[in-house]
Amino acid sequence: MDLYDAISKRRVVREFKDKIVPDEVIEKIINAGIQAPTHDHLRNWEFVVLQSTADKENALQFVKQGIEPTLEILRKTLVNGTPQQKMYAYAMPRQYSMLINASHVILPFFKSNSGVLKPSSVSSLNPISSIWCVIENIFLASTAEGLGCSMRIPVGEEGSNVAKAVEAPVDYLLPCYIGIGYPADNTTVIEQVECVTKQKIHIGKW
Ligand SMILES: Cc1cc2nc3c(=O)[nH]c(=O)nc-3n(C[C@H](O)[C@H](O)[C@H](O)COP(=O)(O)O)c2cc1C
Repeated sequence: MDLYDAISKRRVVREFKDKIVPDEVIEKIINAGIQAPTHDHLRNWEFVVLQSTADKENALQFVKQGIEPTLEILRKTLVNGTPQQKMYAYAMPRQYSMLINASHVILPFFKSNSGVLKPSSVSSLNPISSIWCVIENIFLASTAEGLGCSMRIPVGEEGSNVAKAVEAPVDYLLPCYIGIGYPADNTTVIEQVECVTKQKIHIGKW
């Protein structure tokens, strides 16, 4: 698939077919991930790959606790408003199912330093900026393979609890969970906020 096609076809997928992705395809996708730019030249990234139900349940056990407060907000608020509200209303109840029902879950860990969680400048965030380049490569490579990815950002203590559950070293942080699988047929298409390129470009000055 052409790169521009992969970029335009990439969508966060939250419903998957019950079909296993071959391990070699997962490895190929992670290989695309680790070719991302790296701020320290070290590519200090490690990937925990979960395929069995038991391994997925072990790592995903904290997702339900993380979404309960947001589900409560949803129950109390209007969910048919802006595209953002509609996306939220669709996505939040699927935070667990979009990962447990994915063929594989990838946990992309990055090596942290003292600046990441207490940044003094934008460059303190370089480790997290780099891992997000990896994550985008994984999304685009998955799209090129005809696959889809779900994504969840752990909230509060969720990320460190997952890290402990999969026995990651303490100086590695989890920026998100990635579910990978074959997208279900006729999945809901979420309305996007229109973004016009020409209006985003400022020649010379803003
Ligand atoms: C930093 C970041 C955090 C996100 N967090 C979540 C999340 O926790 N759960 C979720 O379902 N989707 C999450 N998303 C996906 C967005 O909802 C999605 O990218 C957005 O609705 C645009 O849709 P698209 O990616 O399909 O174009 C996140 C995306 C980004 C870039």
